[in-house]
Amino acid sequence: MSKGIHLIFLGAPGAGKGTQAQVIAEKYAAAHVSTGDILRAAVREQTALGLEAKGYMDRGELVPDGVIIGLIRDRLTSADFPANWIMDGFPRTLAQAEALDQLLSEIDQQLTVVLNIDVPLDLLMDRLTLRRTCRKTGQIFNLKFNPPANPEDYDLYQRDDDQPEAVSRRLEVYTAQTAPLIDYYRQQDRLADIQGDQAMAAVTAAIDSAVQTRL
Ligand code: AP5
Repeated sequence: MSKGIHLIFLGAPGAGKGTQAQVIAEKYAAAHVSTGDILRAAVREQTALGLEAKGYMDRGELVPDGVIIGLIRDRLTSADFPANWIMDGFPRTLAQAEALDQLLSEIDQQLTVVLNIDVPLDLLMDRLTLRRTCRKTGQIFNLKFNPPANPEDYDLYQRDDDQPEAVSRRLEVYTAQTAPLIDYYRQQDRLADIQGDQAMAAVTAAIDSAVQTRL
């Protein structure tokens, strides 16, 4: 079995997966693979992938499994892919989780731990509709919870899918299609529950401790 730190960040839209993945990736020199970021870049660049994905994303629906699984397969099997990695936003259906299990067994890797960042659903609307992201650096802010000290230093934008209607649909889709993965990974004894409604540094410390316990 090959060595390395292999993490999945599971959690509802706005739970803090991207925020935490950025910090933890730096700490463990890990590749941060965010399917959402990959898809948004493809939409910006108007590639075939972006053109296919945009409608689903704007409506708050999931992009079809086959597209996403192919994209992850390409990354994980590329020769120069780093030994340590974090998946943020993948898997999010049972079919994706099963495909990942299959892929990991093909490349002789094992998940270190699946971090389920748990935040009560009623906090998520503010987190998402007030989120702003920097176009240049990818840093994630929130106008209420985590405002930038000097906004003029950043090129801030609001994601198209952070409008209230799309957010409501994303939360429904999460509950129906992604939340069942919590039990899937709990049954595999790979799950760590992380309380996500604490200060960001406290969430990071809880994630770090869960990772250290499984190394
Ligand atoms: P994706 O980009 O993955 O979005 P998501 O899962 O909905 O998650 P978010 O990025 O919205 O939230 P997050 O948990 O990363 O929270 P963040 O750290 O930003 O997916 C977008 C779309 O792409 C999907 O809807 C789908 O169409 C498609 N897609 C992607 N992956 C796919 C897949 N595998 N299969 C099919 N389709 C796929 O934090 C949120 C806010 O909260 C920020 O403002 C932040 O500053 C703030 N915050 C964070 N932590 C805290 C804290 N502790 N306290 C207070 N505020 C906090």
